[in-house]
Amino acid sequence: MAKRQIIIAPDPRLKVKAKAVARVDDIVRRLMDDMLETMYAAPGIGLAAPQVGEALRVIVLDVAGRDEKPRPMKFANPEVVWASDERAVQEEGCLSLPEHFAEVERPARVRVRYLDYDNEIREIEADGTLATCLQHEMDHLEGTLFVDHISMLKRNIILRKLRKMKRAEPEPARLRA
Ligand code: NI
Repeated sequence: MAKRQIIIAPDPRLKVKAKAVARVDDIVRRLMDDMLETMYAAPGIGLAAPQVGEALRVIVLDVAGRDEKPRPMKFANPEVVWASDERAVQEEGCLSLPEHFAEVERPARVRVRYLDYDNEIREIEADGTLATCLQHEMDHLEGTLFVDHISMLKRNIILRKLRKMKRAEPEPARLRA
């Protein structure tokens, strides 16, 4: 496994619609493993392939609590096949928008169909944090960030701060001789 670099917004690579994978083969499995390693190292509870520069419909997540055993989950070509009318509001953050959080309203429960690590079709019904996280990561596959769900005013404030932060990033250490 290898850690990948996480792309920080604003960045055009976070705005593309990702392509479906033909099947979950060794290359896709490798990507899933790399993404999980990257997510755990960040640390985060979810990551979508476009965030590491791969425009593919692949997401990983682990919403286990701090004191629980890790529960890594891997999804290819996930799609919502049912969403509850009931909605829920949760505070969301994103590894591509570090240090920023906002309340986002989404369906409280969803059923998602996907291909698993062995290329088998599966369905999962989710509520709570898992439902939020799944929808957040699937948004990334459409080029949508959580800030696209909040007011333009708040979104612009966050994106301006991130732009400033990226400009202030130190250059790679120079060789001192
Ligand atoms: Ni995110």
